[in-house]
Amino acid sequence: MEVRKAVITAAGLGTRFLPATKALSKEMLPLVDRPLIQYALEECASSGIEQVIIIIRPEQGTIGEHCSPAPELERMLEDKGKTSELDAVRNVSSLADICYVHQAEQLGLGHAILMAKDAVGDEPFAVILPDDIIDGQVPALGQMKRIYDQYGGSVVAVEHIAEDKVSSYGVVDPQKIDDKVSRVLGLVEKPAPDKAPSDLCIVGRYIFTPQIFDMIEKTPRGAIGEIQITDAMQLLLQEQNMYAYAFDGKRHDTGTPLGMLKASVELGLKNAAFGDEFREYLAQLEL
Ligand code: UTP
Repeated sequence: MEVRKAVITAAGLGTRFLPATKALSKEMLPLVDRPLIQYALEECASSGIEQVIIIIRPEQGTIGEHCSPAPELERMLEDKGKTSELDAVRNVSSLADICYVHQAEQLGLGHAILMAKDAVGDEPFAVILPDDIIDGQVPALGQMKRIYDQYGGSVVAVEHIAEDKVSSYGVVDPQKIDDKVSRVLGLVEKPAPDKAPSDLCIVGRYIFTPQIFDMIEKTPRGAIGEIQITDAMQLLLQEQNMYAYAFDGKRHDTGTPLGMLKASVELGLKNAAFGDEFREYLAQLEL
């Protein structure tokens, strides 16, 4: 069955970005010219996703406001003849058919995904963590949909990570199929560098079969009271094949101020409207 739905998890507390995230959710922080949530919606739209389920905290009104039509603002822009701004505003609300589901308690990524169970139903679906921005010619989710179509099992996006950094990630025990695809034999969450089964680390894109929901329901809360998606994936692995896919493109982790700053510089330099001017500006800084 085709992957038609995507879940965007946006209910986290964003503690690494406090105080910026005290009143504003991390997913609404701007990267160059638009909030993170919009990059995720654009990736869905360009990957052929038909319906998006955004997991939010009940008090997070701004995400819904950003993604919905804004008739008054649109009328004002129209009256003032600001057509490109009007297009930009209209474009956001036309990216996807969106529904919102609340995660009342922040019990981890596995729990956030479980909140989408009814909205997803009995079909395969994608998950996007919007603080992982993947910049590339072909959207990462679109690449992963092709792998899902080819192999028919859950697919997790992976990246080769330097040995001293693997302990921040879920790490895959891979059985290589080809250059970019491996069968997942096991998963280890945040291993010490000498205990990591490989350097292939999980990043924020997944395609799951609907059986993942049963596995999340069976997953006990971990050490810090959260339901980890890697624990549920371990259970799924015992019943179904799972594949790790080393996508084409550059990932930016925008979940911390430094990561966001690096991503802003790299994507700012590529910006068609002001990238050249920005490059000149950076060049004249006495670094
Ligand atoms: P992160 O761990 O990167 O986000 O979760 P966080 O928890 O918001 O940030 P820190 O660690 O406190 O700084 C990855 C993704 O999962 C979502 C987050 O919004 C983010 O997009 N998430 C995480 C939820 O939706 N619910 C949760 O309970 C936890």
